[in-house]
Amino acid sequence: MAISIFPVTPRFAAEVGDINLSKPLDAATLQAVRDGFATYAVLVFPAQKLSVEQHLAFASNFGPLERTVQKTLHSEKLRVREEIADIANMDAEGRIWKKDARLRLFQMGNRLWHTDSSFKAPSGYASMLYARSVAPIGGHTEYADMRAACDALPATMKARLQGLIAEHSLMYSRRRLGFTEFSPQERAAFAPVLRPLLRRIPESGRETLYVASHIGRIGGMTDAESEALVGELIAHATQRQFVYTHRWRVGDLVMWDNRCTMHRGTEYEDTRWPRDLQRATTSDRIDAFGLLERESTAAADY
Ligand code: OGA
Ligand code: MN
Repeated sequence: MAISIFPVTPRFAAEVGDINLSKPLDAATLQAVRDGFATYAVLVFPAQKLSVEQHLAFASNFGPLERTVQKTLHSEKLRVREEIADIANMDAEGRIWKKDARLRLFQMGNRLWHTDSSFKAPSGYASMLYARSVAPIGGHTEYADMRAACDALPATMKARLQGLIAEHSLMYSRRRLGFTEFSPQERAAFAPVLRPLLRRIPESGRETLYVASHIGRIGGMTDAESEALVGELIAHATQRQFVYTHRWRVGDLVMWDNRCTMHRGTEYEDTRWPRDLQRATTSDRIDAFGLLERESTAAADY
């Protein structure tokens, strides 16, 4: 049976049915998902039942699996394996975290508009976030369509962005949260990566903004000018007409294209309700300049 694709918004988010992600997908099904993913940069697969292995096996269809940065950042042991980015509000023993836990403060970075792993080389391509438990209220994930936002830029702004290169680092987004202390090891692991502000997505041919809270500085500008421009672009791109809000149900797997979307988690009572979301992310094979990335990088060895 062919898969069904049901648009949630005309050109950004769609639900995918008649597909079981726990089994290997045949070539035709995989191609249909790829085609859908080129049109809709956010795909929702409801009612899936996935083990961690099945989740990772599905993700591997979309490139090499990333390793989580959590290992570099927290010496504490991980709750899940390192190919999973743990988006849950839990410690390694599965207990809801305490208000002042370092992990909690650090994960607050996910409340800022960002795209996954723009600070890595190669950068993030597809993220697949799977819900094992959800908060009864709050704790949604919002997505912004950076292609539509790019299309809607005033011509003068688009001309201004042409050729501009931004520095992305996890240290910059965490600095926005008040983290200023980084160990030499963290500084080395999160050395800034250069990415253009405008890029084209090969599969759809669409131009997109590539902006995130991970940006610290833009080439040729002062820190203050960079900050102002990044702020202006994020404000533009996250206007209501470009945003899809996902309200989680247990068993949802949401997949997004990090090259042309931003996302952020919304608030919830995170010291009260367990919210167990687990993410697999794959690396881009081609960098944002259209060049082939090195196969193996320091980022892949975290
Ligand atoms: C992510 C992410 C935010 C959230 O999974 O990459 O940023 O809490 N999630 O939904
Ligand atoms: Mn994220």
